[in-house]
Amino acid sequence: VKRVRTHHLRQWKADGEKWAMLTAYDQYAAQVFDEAGIPVLLVGDSASNNVYGNESSLPVTVDELIPLVRAVTRSAQRALVVADLPFGSYQGSPQQAFDTAVRFMKEADAHAVKLEGGLPMAPQVQLLTDGGIPVMAHIGFTPQSEHQLGGYRVQGRGDAAQRLIEEAVALQEAGAFAVVMEMVPAPVAAQVTDVLRIPTIGIGAGAACDAQVLVWQDMMGLRTGRAPRFVKRYADLHGVMLGAARAYAADVAAGTFPADEHRFDS
Ligand code: KIV
Ligand code: NA
Repeated sequence: VKRVRTHHLRQWKADGEKWAMLTAYDQYAAQVFDEAGIPVLLVGDSASNNVYGNESSLPVTVDELIPLVRAVTRSAQRALVVADLPFGSYQGSPQQAFDTAVRFMKEADAHAVKLEGGLPMAPQVQLLTDGGIPVMAHIGFTPQSEHQLGGYRVQGRGDAAQRLIEEAVALQEAGAFAVVMEMVPAPVAAQVTDVLRIPTIGIGAGAACDAQVLVWQDMMGLRTGRAPRFVKRYADLHGVMLGAARAYAADVAAGTFPADEHRFDS
C-alpha cells in the first residue's frame, strides 16, 4: 500500500476531494482506521484525557506520547501519522520545538508533527520545516492555551476573524502543510480555506474545510456524557463494551463459560 504523503493532501485540496482525519493512540485503532481508508491519523495530546485518564491535555508528556506514536506508526500501513507536540515541549523556542520533534521522528517514526498556536509559533514551524519535518498547524481554540483563552470558547468571532485569517496565512508561509481549525465560526473557516493553498482540517469549524477531524472515542461513543456541539456519534462503543463485559461476567458466574469448545483435554 502506498503511503499517504503531504503532497497527496495538497492535491486533494486542488481536486476538491474532502477527507477525514481521526485520532489513534494504539495498534487496533490504527489498523482499523487504516483499513477504513482514513488517510491521516493523529496521535493527539488528547491521549492525555482519552488514554491516560487526565482531565485536560495539559499534563501529558513527550515520554508518555512517544510509545503511543510508535504503536500507531508500526500499525498503519497507509496513513500519514502525525504526532502532536504536548504542552510545554515546543512553545519555549524554535530550538526546543525542533529537539522535541526530532525525538518523535527518531524514536517513534512519526511522519509529521502538529503544534498549536498562531503568529508566535511561525518561527517554530519555519525551523522544523527547514529541517525536513512536516508541520501541521492548529489555530482557533487551542486546548493547551485553555487557561489563557478563558475556557472552551469559539475563536475568531467578530474582529478576531481577520487576525485568524492572517495567522493561517503566516503559518502557511512558514511552511505548514495543513492547518487544524478548532471551534471557529463556519464562515470564517470557509474564508481561511479559500485563502490557503494548504488544506484546512476542521473540528467545530463547519463543512467548508478541506478535511475534518474528530477524537475517535468521542465519535464512536466510548466517551459518554455531554459532548461538544461538533461531535457526531457514529457508534455506541460504550454500550457494546459494557454489554460484552457484563455477558462475560454473567457467563463465568453461571459456569457457562468456558464451555467444552474452549477447554483443553488431557
Ligand atoms: O489532540 C487532539 O486530538 C487534537 C485534535 C482534536 C485536532 O489536537
Ligand atoms: Na491536540
